[in-house]
Amino acid sequence: MSRTHNCGELKLGNLGEIVTLCGWVQKSRNLGGMTFVDLRDRYGITQLAFNMEKNSNLCANARCLGREYVIEIIGEVVERENKNNLIPTGEIEIEVAEFTILNIAKTPPFTIEDDTDGGEEIRMKYRYLDIRRNPIKENLMLRAKISSETRKYLDEQGFCEVETPYLIKSTQEGARDFIVPSRMNENQFYALPQSPQTFKQLLMVAGMDKYYQIVKCFRDEDLRADRQPEFTQIDCEMSFVNQEDILNTFEGLTKHLLKTIKGVELENFPRISYDDAIKTYGSDKPDIRFDMNFIEMNDVCKNKGVGIFDDAELVIAINVKGCANYTRKQLDSLSNFVKTPQVGANGLIYCKYNQDGSSKSSVDKFFDENARIKWAEKAECDKGDLLLIMAGKANNTRKSLGILRLHLAEELGLRNPEVFSAVWVLDFPLLEWDEETQIYHAMHHPFTAPKPEDIEKLNDSPSTVRANAYDLVLNGNEIGGGSIRIHNKDLQQLMFKNLGFSAEEAEKQFGFLMNAFEYGAPPHGGIALGFDRLCAILGGQESIRDFIAFPKNNAGRDVMIDSPSNIDNNQLKELNISLKN
Ligand code: AMO
Repeated sequence: MSRTHNCGELKLGNLGEIVTLCGWVQKSRNLGGMTFVDLRDRYGITQLAFNMEKNSNLCANARCLGREYVIEIIGEVVERENKNNLIPTGEIEIEVAEFTILNIAKTPPFTIEDDTDGGEEIRMKYRYLDIRRNPIKENLMLRAKISSETRKYLDEQGFCEVETPYLIKSTQEGARDFIVPSRMNENQFYALPQSPQTFKQLLMVAGMDKYYQIVKCFRDEDLRADRQPEFTQIDCEMSFVNQEDILNTFEGLTKHLLKTIKGVELENFPRISYDDAIKTYGSDKPDIRFDMNFIEMNDVCKNKGVGIFDDAELVIAINVKGCANYTRKQLDSLSNFVKTPQVGANGLIYCKYNQDGSSKSSVDKFFDENARIKWAEKAECDKGDLLLIMAGKANNTRKSLGILRLHLAEELGLRNPEVFSAVWVLDFPLLEWDEETQIYHAMHHPFTAPKPEDIEKLNDSPSTVRANAYDLVLNGNEIGGGSIRIHNKDLQQLMFKNLGFSAEEAEKQFGFLMNAFEYGAPPHGGIALGFDRLCAILGGQESIRDFIAFPKNNAGRDVMIDSPSNIDNNQLKELNISLKN
């Protein structure tokens, strides 16, 4: 290698050494007698000095270096006059003796700096330039470190990494499949896996016992900040385990990652049932870094002759500590917020408990001070607190108050990305009724086992059956989900029946798995963590896009390579595909 060092490592200890560095010209400053160039590579920036007096030709040539030119230099490490404490190499510079331009560069379409002037679209189009910027480069390096620490932990725990195929068969598993036509099998299609779910279960039948894979998954679904059409999972499966074994193993992995990556020691993760999470936080992925737990107010609000409460199925409230001083404007803004379609509430009732002991609510017309005192007792409001109340249909009201809770926490700075709080959500319902299609869907996936004590309810009241399923939630984000699986053909058939599959359809789509269950399938279970989400949260963000080297935009397009794109007529013909004009 021609380089002797990288651009991030030279210090005073290297004074006098003759070094060779390669990199990109970040910027150059011409100060008359001296020209300074910042040379950048993945590891950092080193200042290069060109002295007009000592070498006027070289200095004149250096002045022609454009931004992002790729150069190689040879020179001596010398102490800098004006030191820069902000970078590790800030005490030295290189007095350049010779340099070679390895490649010239066009002026980049946006500045390659931490705070770039480039908008989202242009950054995506020139992602290879975007990755030269520290924030994105550091995200990718963080991702690599998390991947390596994950492997280290799982390898030490005796897991074996096995790759599973990407060209598989289309099955109804949850989201829509991405489809790949087969040239050799006319009119037939592969599907890209939404997850390696069935393969990892087959690996358990195959006796592989503890499997993992850091693996790409593909889902054709609407995109959001925390969703990409192709994303990565830390996918795992274990045999002869119960739920407790899996929770402990992956709580261990999460703790290991937080410790090695962020230096944070997490306490044992609390556990909450799905029902309680919805009742307490209005969400199955509660952010428990702060309180504002829901308080049920039916007994102190209903049956007082006031329609908003009397007509409601549920009245619930949150106590926003220390916020009685919210202004009219702030309260109006909260009230407008809850009426947006995204929140979907009818309105918001407030009650301020002032420091002087007085109280004031937005429904003083109907409720006197005695009522307000009762509310305060119920919601444990002290002087200075603000009580926010919502009323309506139970499910909607909980969902709306859950969104308001997060919104307030954001406003009050309670969602600090450097504070980490994980929680297990357990006992999900097995099935979810879909009004539109009038059939049950598997809440997790069709291979999830019901709780043994609930199995008999599968025939008569399927909606009350709980699953042996769990989600891992970190800072209010679902970063993982898994379950104990069905490993018995009859139960799996019953499950498919509940999901509206005919026996033939179930056999056609999943016969390969049910047949395997007849050849000695061990009890097994597993989990998959959303790797991109994990990286984003450890990187202090909720959007996963900048933790993926080459992500898709909101329309599912890669604007850099311009994909998806049309394909050649000959290719279409070979695939026996004709297009609609
Ligand atoms: P599930 O569908 O819950 O489970 O996915 C596991 C985790 O993957 C992440 N995730 C996503 N991340 C980015 N973009 C997406 N489109 C996306 N979809 C999901 C989430 C989620 O918690 N086979 C089961 C796992 C199992 O049962 O073992 C599965 O895929 O963080």
